[in-house]
This record gives sequence, structure tokens and C-alpha cells, in this order.
Amino acid sequence: MEVNGDDGEPTAKSSAEEEMTTFSRHNFGNSENTDDGFSVTIIENMKEEYGLFVWPCSIILAEYIWQQKSRFTGASVVELGAGTSLPGLVAAKVGADVTLTDDSSRVEVLTHMRRQCDLNDIKCKIRGLTWGVWDAQTFSLCPNIILGADVLYDSCAFDDLFATVTFLLQNCPSSVFITTYHNRSGHHLIGFLMVKWGLKCVKLLDGFSFMPSHKTSSLSGNIQLAEIILDTANRDDTKLM
Ligand SMILES: C[S@@+](CC[C@H](N)C(=O)[O-])C[C@H]1O[C@@H](n2cnc3c(N)ncnc32)[C@H](O)[C@@H]1O
Repeated sequence: MEVNGDDGEPTAKSSAEEEMTTFSRHNFGNSENTDDGFSVTIIENMKEEYGLFVWPCSIILAEYIWQQKSRFTGASVVELGAGTSLPGLVAAKVGADVTLTDDSSRVEVLTHMRRQCDLNDIKCKIRGLTWGVWDAQTFSLCPNIILGADVLYDSCAFDDLFATVTFLLQNCPSSVFITTYHNRSGHHLIGFLMVKWGLKCVKLLDGFSFMPSHKTSSLSGNIQLAEIILDTANRDDTKLM
């Protein structure tokens, strides 16, 4: 395997039978100095459906985690719809106890997550977690921080996602959902769903506002980062039944 690139550029093809597999390297801080930075290598597979690419939202959320690393050290973190898992891997690198999750029915994605961890020598738990589906594993999760990069892309799945996020926020007091998403149609629907599920946004940033300029050349779109918590003052649980 040859990995020469920098900051998310796919760099090399692997063997003939895996000719659609590429590797991208993502640098954080001063990656030459292990005291003040590191690199994460991600395997991407162009043959598979979406979920096995590093989407721009993931690069932006991973950079935010690096810049906010003191919040993550020692935290329990669950990444939803993790796919190639860059944000969760960065959280683990800065000292979080991370559970990477994706759709339980997409076994190839869960297998792929294990390969990402092994390649980077990072320890994370890996679980199937389908939004809006409740099983014993989901009930046992109690994260301080929930991550979701590009998980708000199919409005048919928004309610299921918000149901899972709300459950996790309720399960662990003072927890926060940090998400990056393409703001394609304004915040009306997301705002509506936050009210419906008794949540509120406490931070909303232009995803490009904190990105180092050398990381933005391959990124495009109107990407927002939101931090969302339970709105305990205005919560009416009877509306959710
Ligand atoms: C656009 S991809 C984003 C992947 C990754 N977070 C990133 O930004 O590179 C959406 C991810 O959500 C997952 N997903 C879609 N529907 C889901 C569901 N109902 N439950 C759990 N995961 C789901 C997909 O498998 C995929 O990994």
C-alpha cells in the first residue's frame, strides 16, 4: 500500500482485485510532530454505495474535533452514520472513548469501520445502530457527545435520526449532538424538528469559518456545523407520544 497524499486527497490504488479502493490521509495540527498533531488514513471504496467515501461534512467535523480537543479527552462519544468514520477516529486520537455506529443492515460498512481502526491502530467499539430502531445495545449507550457528519441528507429519515438523537441526549444528562450538514433548503425543517423533539441549537457555524485554508480547496457547498442539546425549559414530552 502506498499513501503519499495530504489533507484528504486520494493517493493510491491498492491491488488489482481492489482497484476501486483508495487511501486518503488527513492531517491534524503539526502531523510531523506526534506531540502536537497526527494523521489519520482512511480507506475509501468507490465500488460500494455512499457511506464509504469521506464526505466533506466529515472533514469539517473532524477538524472541529481537533480544534476542540480538550472537550473530547475522556469523553464518551458515539458517532451516528459514521461510514468511513473520520470524526470518530479523530475523537479517539484525542482521548475519547468512541463507539462508531452505522446502519445495522449494512454489514460491509461495519466491517469497513473495523479496517479503518486497525489501519490506524485506534481502538473504538463498533456497533450496528439504525436510526429509530431500539435494541438493547442502543439502550446501553450513554454518550457525552454524539457526532453526525452528513446524516441530515434524506428528509424521509430525519424523524428517525432525531428520535435516536433525542433518546441518547436524554440518556446522558448534559450531552450534546454535534453535526455537520449541507444547508440545502435553509434551516426551516431542521428548526421545526428541533422544536418537535424538544431540542435547541446552541451553536451554529459556517463550516468553512474555522477550516485552515489549505484544507478547503477540495471542499464545496454550504456546510453548517450545529451543536444541539435538549431544550429542558420548553420540553413537552406528551407531544412525542
Ligand atoms: C452521506 S453518508 C455520511 C458518512 C460519513 N458520516 C461521512 O460524512 O463521511 C450517510 C451515512 O449514514 C448512514 N445511514 C443512512 N441511513 C441510516 C439509518 N437509517 N440508520 C443508521 N445509519 C444510516 C449510511 O450508511 C452512511 O454511512
